[in-house]
Amino acid sequence: MKISGKLLLFVFDLFLVYTLSHGNSDVERKSYIIYMGDAPEAGTASIDAVDHHHNLLSSAIGEKSVFWALLLMFCFILISEKIARESRIHSYGKSFSGFAARLLPHEAERLKETDSVVSVFPNTRRKLHTTRSWDFIGMPQRLKRNTQIESNTIVGVFDTGIASDAPSFNDKGYGPPPPKWKGICVTGGNFSGCNKYSIISLSLSLSAWIFISGARYYHLGNFDQKLQDPSPEDTEGHGTHTSSTVAGISVDGASLYGLGEGTARGGVPSARLAMYKVCWQDGCSDIDILAAFDDAISDGVDLISISIGGPTNYYFADSMGIGAFQAMKKGILTVCSAGNDGPNPWSVQNIAPWIMTIAASGMDRQFRTVVGLGNGMKTSGISVNTYSPTKRMYPLIDGASAANLTGEGEFLMASTCDPGTLNKTKVKGKIVYCQGSTDLGLSVDESGGVGTIVSLTRDTDTGFTFLIPAANVGPQEADIVTRYINSTKNPNAVIYKSKAVNVTAPFPDIAAPGVDILAGFPRKVSVTGSSNDKRFGDYNIISGTSMACPHAAAAAAYVKTFHPDWSPAAIKSALMTTATEMKIKGMDAEFGYGSGQINPIMAVHPGLVYDMQTSSYISFLCKEGINGTALARINVGSLVNCSSFPAAQGVDGLNYPSMSVHIANLNDSISAVFYRTVTNVGYAKSVYKATVTSPKGLSVTVIPDTLRFNRLHQKKSFKVVLNGRPLNNGTQSLSASLEWSDLRRSVRSPILVYTPPPLSLF
Ligand SMILES: *[C@@H]1O[C@H](CO)[C@@H](O)[C@H](O)[C@H]1NC(C)=O
Ligand SMILES: *[C@@H]1O[C@H](CO)[C@@H](O)[C@H](O)[C@H]1NC(C)=O
Ligand SMILES: *[C@@H]1O[C@H](CO)[C@@H](O)[C@H](O)[C@H]1NC(C)=O
Ligand SMILES: *[C@@H]1O[C@H](CO)[C@@H](O)[C@H](O)[C@H]1NC(C)=O
Ligand SMILES: *[C@@H]1O[C@H](CO)[C@@H](O)[C@H](O)[C@H]1NC(C)=O
Ligand SMILES: *[C@@H]1O[C@H](CO)[C@@H](O)[C@H](O)[C@H]1NC(C)=O
Ligand SMILES: *[C@@H]1O[C@H](CO)[C@@H](O)[C@H](O)[C@H]1NC(C)=O
Ligand SMILES: *[C@@H]1O[C@H](CO)[C@@H](O)[C@H](O)[C@H]1NC(C)=O
Ligand SMILES: *[C@@H]1O[C@H](CO)[C@@H](O)[C@H](O)[C@H]1NC(C)=O
Repeated sequence: MKISGKLLLFVFDLFLVYTLSHGNSDVERKSYIIYMGDAPEAGTASIDAVDHHHNLLSSAIGEKSVFWALLLMFCFILISEKIARESRIHSYGKSFSGFAARLLPHEAERLKETDSVVSVFPNTRRKLHTTRSWDFIGMPQRLKRNTQIESNTIVGVFDTGIASDAPSFNDKGYGPPPPKWKGICVTGGNFSGCNKYSIISLSLSLSAWIFISGARYYHLGNFDQKLQDPSPEDTEGHGTHTSSTVAGISVDGASLYGLGEGTARGGVPSARLAMYKVCWQDGCSDIDILAAFDDAISDGVDLISISIGGPTNYYFADSMGIGAFQAMKKGILTVCSAGNDGPNPWSVQNIAPWIMTIAASGMDRQFRTVVGLGNGMKTSGISVNTYSPTKRMYPLIDGASAANLTGEGEFLMASTCDPGTLNKTKVKGKIVYCQGSTDLGLSVDESGGVGTIVSLTRDTDTGFTFLIPAANVGPQEADIVTRYINSTKNPNAVIYKSKAVNVTAPFPDIAAPGVDILAGFPRKVSVTGSSNDKRFGDYNIISGTSMACPHAAAAAAYVKTFHPDWSPAAIKSALMTTATEMKIKGMDAEFGYGSGQINPIMAVHPGLVYDMQTSSYISFLCKEGINGTALARINVGSLVNCSSFPAAQGVDGLNYPSMSVHIANLNDSISAVFYRTVTNVGYAKSVYKATVTSPKGLSVTVIPDTLRFNRLHQKKSFKVVLNGRPLNNGTQSLSASLEWSDLRRSVRSPILVYTPPPLSLF
């Protein structure tokens, strides 16, 4: 018996060696997410579910080992059990069902074919994509609020954590969290703990992560192996900034070294925050994001704000798509940033129709930085430069002329001031002119330079904060600088401290302020996040759709406090149809800014809403060709038969507050029909008339063009018919609009006809 016991162990080890080496030499195990739709019984993260995941995994892993199984019949089960146990990273089960595991590709394939599985997709790493901004979108500080309801509103933010000691999160005067809150506060590390104001929960996967790093999954390699502060503490700044934009209290005299001075406040300052820290130094993984959704939905949040972007995948092979769908089913709207890849076409991320996708718009404020040249000329750049010059002029040098000839770099890289390419002797004490450098002054600083002028290939409205005095200049200003450098033997320049200037119209990025936003920031993190930077403050000015997203999330929360029973789709519709139209020429148009600039006050009284329930999305998904079998799993309890499901009519099959149609063949005439239903949420008795604007060559007909309502919540349907000549004359897109108006409320929908191929989602 003793011998056979040893033999068994030996064989067992052999098997493990085989499996692991096989895995490593051939194809490595990678982390995947196995999504299985709704939780069997909502709210029960039962042992049964974990067992079920485990059994699925065992069988997927086991079958490959048939050969070994024959050989080692009696320890086979033990072995695949063991591997299954070691492979499973995390089980979801509170709000939906599924798990994360380390799999070989064939195991992933096998799981995909399993009946109870909706989708299997690799874990990816995603990226993180104030003051005046609220006034700018018409939400002044003194504003009619439903304070009682607002203080019972919980906004979940998935981000880098939170600095709970930041002044924006002072909990003075706040009562305990509302009773519906079921989440927890995890403390530890440098995190000083939750207060009444911010209820901080931590993605469950963190504990899993500690477990993994300490025990077995060290080789997952998903994250920075040296997790310095395993706590919800924000060591990056992004999470503090976004969450204080949503719900920070009013703090007077907030500024970043005197810039952007004013009152920093969140959009719904009485609301509670629940921070789900899913992002670490090297990114935000899908496994963590889904764990946060799993928790947040069952914790009782009312709304979720996520300023994170990543690859766009088929709706249910995408952590955002899945999580937001499950949240939507519980009445929780998910607001996401559209990403910062604009104005490149097709760069919008987080596009599932049940997500509200937010772009960033500029405000009527820019940070201008004047650059003085030795010849008396002045030019101006855009940046957030907090430094005042201490001398009248500084010597100026072109990066290319300051190349370190023995260094790693070449002449060309020195012209963009890449790290290690500059000659310290030549650069010391000078302002360096760099073509399109992206390291925010780090390499110039390390080479002893005292400032930098960085040229861009196109004009910008986004002020970046550099480590050293700096200005970003557009092509024309760059030309002035280079011609000056070329014109003299000893060029000089000076970079002045930035000034906020008023500009006439929003710049066309998109929908909510996301450019140069002043908001809360952790004191421990330097202004640029660089360890070379010695500037620290409670506020910082950052740009990006990351910053726009919490504005829109707060606006949505604000609307929800007036209409707690509205569906996520109704809230989204209200915000979209009341948005202020942005008049920008060029092909970006609605691709750039969606419906326009959000206007939260108008959104409280939208008049009509385009509402949608889960069944509407199911019908849309059927139309999109998603397998009914898979849909049944997404919607456990209501078996979906796409052929018997009421056929979704029209181009998109959605009751969406905007309309767009893609024309695949340029030689085809434009011909499209949209079916829509609006719900009266304005005055009981009202008559809305349709007004259409459309460009030459496109006809837009609304049938009927008058809607008469006798009572609240009454629904009326109509269709919108588009006809036009083929788009084969070089026009890329046509923008039109439909506006329903009863003279008190107007309900506007953009209509877009476009030609380029859309992202392939399948
Ligand atoms: C706490 O923060 C300091 C820096 O402020 C850091 O050096 C230290 O590692 C952190 N401690 C923990 C436990 O994370
Ligand atoms: C750096 O610049 C100094 C001064 O112009 C020059 O003497 C030296 O050769 C340069 N060194 C390198 C490595 O480029
Ligand atoms: C040039 O680059 C080399 C290698 O990186 C470095 O050791 C040297 O200090 C640099 N010289 C100057 C003058 O910057
Ligand atoms: C300076 O002038 C020369 C000759 O006119 C030109 O080749 C070079 O590109 C110019 N350099 C800059 C930085 O403009
Ligand atoms: C910019 O606009 C604000 C608000 O409209 C106004 O108070 C301020 O004086 C203006 N500043 C300048 C420099 O025009
Ligand atoms: C749906 O999926 C099931 C199981 O994977 C398959 O048998 C069936 O053929 C699929 N149906 C369609 C319409 O693709
Ligand atoms: C789906 O619906 C169609 C039409 O109502 C019906 O003919 C078909 O049998 C149904 N399929 C299933 C599997 O129920
Ligand atoms: C459109 O028509 C032109 C001229 O008839 C033809 O050359 C071209 O191939 C057509 N394009 C498509 C996409 O059908
Ligand atoms: C192409 O046709 C569209 C619609 O018919 C029209 O609006 C546009 O001006 C035309 N463009 C050119 C370049 O002719």
